[in-house]
Amino acid sequence: MSTTPNTQASDQATSTQTPSCKVSASPHDAPASPAGKRPAPPCTLVIFGAGGDLTKRLLMPALYNLAVDGLLDGGMKIIGINHGERETSAWRDDLHQSLEQFAADKASTFHAGKLDDKAWDWVAQRLEYMAGEFESDDTFTKLKQKLDQSSGGNVIFYLAVTSRFFKPIVEHLGKAGLLKEGDGDHGGFRRIVIEKPFGTDLASARDLNEHILSYAKEEQVYRIDHFLGKDTVQSILAVRFANALFEPVWRREYIDSVQITAAETIGVEGRGKFYEQTGAFRDMLPNHLFQLLGMVAMEPPNSFDAEAVRDKKADIFDAIQPLTPDDVVFGQYEKGPTGVGYREEPDVAPDSSTETYAAARVFVENWRWAGVPFYLRTGKRLAARRTEISVQLKPVPFRLFRDTPVDALTPNVLTLRIDPAHGTSFDFNVKTPGPVMQIGAVQSSFDYNDFFTERANVGYETLLYDCMLGDETLFQRADSIETSWSAVDDVLHPKTGGAVPVHGYASGSEGPAQADALLARNGHAWRPLKQNPVEKK
Ligand code: BG6
Repeated sequence: MSTTPNTQASDQATSTQTPSCKVSASPHDAPASPAGKRPAPPCTLVIFGAGGDLTKRLLMPALYNLAVDGLLDGGMKIIGINHGERETSAWRDDLHQSLEQFAADKASTFHAGKLDDKAWDWVAQRLEYMAGEFESDDTFTKLKQKLDQSSGGNVIFYLAVTSRFFKPIVEHLGKAGLLKEGDGDHGGFRRIVIEKPFGTDLASARDLNEHILSYAKEEQVYRIDHFLGKDTVQSILAVRFANALFEPVWRREYIDSVQITAAETIGVEGRGKFYEQTGAFRDMLPNHLFQLLGMVAMEPPNSFDAEAVRDKKADIFDAIQPLTPDDVVFGQYEKGPTGVGYREEPDVAPDSSTETYAAARVFVENWRWAGVPFYLRTGKRLAARRTEISVQLKPVPFRLFRDTPVDALTPNVLTLRIDPAHGTSFDFNVKTPGPVMQIGAVQSSFDYNDFFTERANVGYETLLYDCMLGDETLFQRADSIETSWSAVDDVLHPKTGGAVPVHGYASGSEGPAQADALLARNGHAWRPLKQNPVEKK
């Protein structure tokens, strides 16, 4: 989330591109970058898992978009490592083909229409394939030779691989001397990007951090939570801190409760094997949903400096009252109007007790939030796709309306819409037209599309660009990962009682009834997924 031109970038950039540069006819020259933005410094991006889905679906589209924007340096190189011999040209062709498919697909976040050939050529010319096993010494000897030959010393190692390879790859990189920064043979930075899942509980996350940090410094480690790459998530801080309206009421004196939802209509989509071991709770809650909670609940930082922002977020994770099994509800989708049951999915045990839905009641025990429940929910095969945060304000005194025909007032709710709608809405009350004092609930809403030209954006553009610039604001620090896992440890490993029960819900429904009961305990109810009462039809 770079806010000012980065001095490191400007010092190191070999490209002389400036925002006002014209696009050159040569495919070697990057297009002009947007005003106020500079190309990242030159670096070699080494992708472990070059043949994987993440590389195809997210990294390549993001690199292409950065190239379109002229945000990559002319000296950039991309080395893709995967097991299995193949020619660089075959890898390029494969990537090109999938990029074209995503670009043409209206449902894809990379719906760019037709690819810009010049930008693709620019990326394609920088691609190099290298065959290698992720756990073999040979791979790293070969990689070291390649990097020694390359001119720039800046290297990003992107671990786009399944989590069991995180440790061995980092260990090999460390032992091969590839993580050594600064002077000597390897000038420049050495950074490691790690995808989720970062551990499966507190003990494994600690162990992984310890292992990684025995080979690299914390500043070299970029732990990704892709939710933080979304513009609408980054905008939470802008909505809160760039407007005078919200912050004065953003506290327990005025806020009744907060709901954070990440509901999906899709099922496990062929990821049965992964999901069986993970479940909805581990997959989404202590990472994506906690990150959203952190953005909503954090104190204002003094600057957008990475440590300033991350310190304030860390304070929130630290203040979360550890969850107990009583604070959560798990569900599993069954056959329903929108599809088969989870147990009928490929690679899923016929008697599986893995949850595909998780809801939690979370309290943040600090001066700003004590007593305000944060309700978190996520699930597959639900009634609607909806990622959003709804902040409900406390009721106003009713006395004024006691002698009028008004029998209740709808609470004010500010909703920050993250996906698939991008924007905000505010529910409030007005007098309905006519001679009688009647109150009507209305909604005022803002949609990004109405104000800005939305562009194809897969959400990894900012993350990759920031990593090249060395801006860690949007990446997770070791301590925050551990405090987040620590807050849910008693749910994952209950000290008393058995595992959290898993309740059935029909595919396409609002989730299990027991989740309603969780909120009813505090006199609350979930906002309907299908359509909120006052939302525009
Ligand atoms: C991933 C989870 O991290 O996030 C998936 O592993 C989930 O199960 C996905 O579907 C949701 O992300 P988004 O950006 O599609 O809302």
